[in-house]
Amino acid sequence: MKSVVLEEAEAILWSLRGVWDEDAVDDLDHALQSAHLAQADGADDELILAAALHDLGHSPLLTPRPDHDRVARLWLTPRFGERVGWLAGAHVAAKRHLALTESGYLDALSDRSVDTLSAQGGQARVGSQWTSNPWWPDALRLRRFDDAAKIPGAAAMTVAEVLDVAGRVVAA
Ligand SMILES: [Fe+2]
Repeated sequence: MKSVVLEEAEAILWSLRGVWDEDAVDDLDHALQSAHLAQADGADDELILAAALHDLGHSPLLTPRPDHDRVARLWLTPRFGERVGWLAGAHVAAKRHLALTESGYLDALSDRSVDTLSAQGGQARVGSQWTSNPWWPDALRLRRFDDAAKIPGAAAMTVAEVLDVAGRVVAA
């Protein structure tokens, strides 16, 4: 029998079907592609899970809020631990940081991601509470999975595979 936490994660994932934050893929395909890219990059289970659930703040099961990165952190931390919550909660800060520090980064973002950047505070020095965290390099990795996971029909994990990862994180 699945634990309550895994049932909640499954419900959140499926609720992202038909949520169109991007133009090219819905938020469920985006989540499952992000998880696949993390796995293909050799990420550990916590980073794969954070990649899969980083945009859960867009779920219609949750109260809509503009700061969907914070929603992810607050939802994930009590269920899957500090690191999963922090990594997912850092995905907007990582975008702002890369937009400021990496030439060509902005040019490669989707139109939608460029649009939301200004609402998120624009490209900016994000502060040492982010960049001095030992998990920051993994937050930047997550951001790159996020940015690349917007291609219709691209390789993706299944919901069941993500839940297997989630189960291992809970059990660890
Ligand atoms: Fe995303």
